[in-house]
Amino acid sequence: MAYVIGFAGKGGTGKTSIAALTVRYLIERRRGPVLAVDADSNSCLNEALGIEVHATIGKLREESLATVRSGESRPGGMSMEQLFDYQVQQSVIESKGFDLMVMGRPEGPGCYCAANHIIRKYTDKLSETYPYVVIDNEAGMEHLSRRTTHKVNLLLIISDPTVKGVLTAKRIDGLVDELVLDVGQRVLIINRVTGIEGEVLKSQAEGFGIHVAGLVPQDDRIFEYDLKGLPVFTLPSDSAALATIYRILDSLGIP
Ligand SMILES: Nc1ncnc2c1ncn2[C@@H]1O[C@H](COP(=O)(O)OP(=O)(O)OP(=O)(O)O)[C@@H](O)[C@H]1O
Ligand SMILES: [Mg+2]
Repeated sequence: MAYVIGFAGKGGTGKTSIAALTVRYLIERRRGPVLAVDADSNSCLNEALGIEVHATIGKLREESLATVRSGESRPGGMSMEQLFDYQVQQSVIESKGFDLMVMGRPEGPGCYCAANHIIRKYTDKLSETYPYVVIDNEAGMEHLSRRTTHKVNLLLIISDPTVKGVLTAKRIDGLVDELVLDVGQRVLIINRVTGIEGEVLKSQAEGFGIHVAGLVPQDDRIFEYDLKGLPVFTLPSDSAALATIYRILDSLGIP
């Protein structure tokens, strides 16, 4: 079974950037291969990873439904379920060291819950074939109650260096308990730290009983890559944020 790493946190705190760097870490420092899952309907994990998306689960569902509605015969007389399995497998984008599955947006009057249900089902299913799964989630807490996956070994809660970010982390932490989610380890990472505010916020979070795994510095290289439209996945190895994220991941006992 895969070791599953999930992300949560307030909007714009760096979940997607850190998820992309976590994929790279697992490839460079662990056994890989990795299944990256973009469970945010407003997705951009692929951009952070530097790959193009040709298929999403949201789109695929509509296509399958259209096949059923039209009564068209299916290739090789497959059952709907078999066809769908096949299509999901086809929609997994292969790259060097990792594959990517993208939830995307349901087309037309589709429902997000359905796409989400499918993502969960196939994340669970595909977890059997990858040693690592990294799931980038949307901002906020909705996805926790919708349960993007059944089991998460490591939940990385990402905050920006603000009280609001830490309070959101506290709410997320509480919700994990409340919903009795199957989360092994959960830690907070405070991102974009520029000065002493990091330590102040760390104490505050620890006062809430949240373990702070580390403080990631504001990194002008990330800012620059963002501006130039370059994938954060290809940051130079000596970039400050990357080095810190690697050190944090080293400390978390990932098998
Ligand atoms: N350590 C850092 N230093 C500088 N810029 C950063 C850092 N981490 C993230 N950023 C920038 O912050 C912005 C938000 O990052 P990102 O998209 O990863 O956040 P997110 O939490 O996934 O956002 P959303 O909630 O919208 O999904 C991006 O422009 C990114 O380049
Ligand atoms: Mg994001």
